[in-house]
Amino acid sequence: MNFHINNLVAEQQNIVELFKVVKPKPAISIIGLGYVGAVSTACLAKLGHEVIGADLDEVKVNQIAQGISPIHEENLQNLLQDGVEDELITATTDVTAAVRDTDITFVSVGTPTKSDGGCDASYIISAAQMIGEGLKQKDKYHLVVMRCSVPPGTTLDVMVPEIEKASGLKMGEGFGICFNPEFLREGTAIADFDAPPKTVIGANDERAAMALTEVYYPVDDNVIITTIEAAEMVKYVDNIWHATKVCFANEVGRICKPLDIDSHEVMNIFVQDTKLNLSPYYLKPGFAYGGSCLPKEVRAVVHLGEELGVDLPLVNSLAETNKQQIQSAVDLIKNTGKKKIGFLGLAFKAGTDDIRESPILEVIASLLDEGFDIGVHDPAIGKDTSIKGQFNYVRNVCPHLEQVIDELPELMAANTGELLDDCDVVVVTQKNANFQMQVGARLNNKEVIDLVRLFDELPNHQSYQGIGW
Ligand SMILES: NC(=O)c1ccc[n+]([C@@H]2O[C@H](COP(=O)([O-])OP(=O)(O)OC[C@H]3O[C@@H](n4cnc5c(N)ncnc54)[C@H](O)[C@@H]3O)[C@@H](O)[C@H]2O)c1
Repeated sequence: MNFHINNLVAEQQNIVELFKVVKPKPAISIIGLGYVGAVSTACLAKLGHEVIGADLDEVKVNQIAQGISPIHEENLQNLLQDGVEDELITATTDVTAAVRDTDITFVSVGTPTKSDGGCDASYIISAAQMIGEGLKQKDKYHLVVMRCSVPPGTTLDVMVPEIEKASGLKMGEGFGICFNPEFLREGTAIADFDAPPKTVIGANDERAAMALTEVYYPVDDNVIITTIEAAEMVKYVDNIWHATKVCFANEVGRICKPLDIDSHEVMNIFVQDTKLNLSPYYLKPGFAYGGSCLPKEVRAVVHLGEELGVDLPLVNSLAETNKQQIQSAVDLIKNTGKKKIGFLGLAFKAGTDDIRESPILEVIASLLDEGFDIGVHDPAIGKDTSIKGQFNYVRNVCPHLEQVIDELPELMAANTGELLDDCDVVVVTQKNANFQMQVGARLNNKEVIDLVRLFDELPNHQSYQGIGW
């Protein structure tokens, strides 16, 4: 498909200027009139679209058709009434006809949990078949906008084949597809529609992406355009993050209470830090945490919880998930089948010579144990760095690293070039311009294991592997 997300994003600002030109708004059908569908119906009508709500549930259809809200949501009833009075909102149980008679279809059917914990896609499949039937009765391009929360791949692998089969059309030709996750919060849904936290459009062709960008232009002139799979994933990631925040804050409360510390006072201070706490910092997949503070403090809080008899499952799980990230690096390296491994970066992060609890030491120790030939270079660590002195500080928690600490001086290469010349696999644990240039120049003859996302643009090279990308 001749569609490049980056080009589109660059052009987006120019293109949205065109949307200011007054022209008829596309008619929209909404399949599934539950919480998401009812709110979308009211809000899209408020933006001036003719909206046909479609559901198999006659009660909901009758309610929407009369401007009655099927759910309790502030201001929804008023907006639905306005839409019905303005003859913008109608509702039907005939899903196929609703698709046929509109230009864009939003899909917001339920995706309940199956007995095995997975996502039940049966409502999506039946809606897709009805959409396909509707498209068969049309001779104009139609845009289908998937709004359900689904596992990545569902839109393209489950929904689109059903639409294509039932309609006889091809995606990207007779119809376009977008995945547009729903971020509204129940209780403030109308206000959130007017001022969304973000608008994400997953698309794989320009026409589809632009048509949906135009719909949202009145409430968001800076939509985020990405791939369909990334947009599907964002919805899940958002929700597991929100759940993590809730559980984190509750564990803070559980530990503060027996200490007679006001947890709200603590968290009010915590949230004022928008540099490290509520920020993109620490939120990019990469290697394990380490250094002189994080592992030590996590252990201390686990210990405090045990002393107080307080359960902290989230905090208690941190060390285990960190250990698994270290093991993932070991596995990636071993899976190359090569024995001469060079590490670029030894300290727990760039710009320091602190190797205390640097997680890469665990990887090196594990490989040395198995007879790998190891080389290391770190621009901040030289002959006069007190490696042994630093180790004495953490001796109690990682006695198993004593041997690697003793061997390290022998393993150190003087510079990046020397290290790279002498290994078959290079493991990058720090990001800097020199590593970028030198590793980039050797992609043809070295295997690269990247733990830090060294390159801004990912190399499309068989010899390159990232730990979480
Ligand atoms: N509720 C939320 O706050 C929220 C927020 C974001 C995303 N989501 C996601 O949006 C989707 C919809 O959620 P909801 O809470 O509105 O669901 P819901 O269960 O309240 O409503 C779904 C509606 O779809 C109808 N339906 C099912 N199959 C149909 C078909 N083939 N044709 C027509 N109608 C059909 C049902 O009768 C029902 O009225 C889900 O994937 C959900 O995970 C929900």
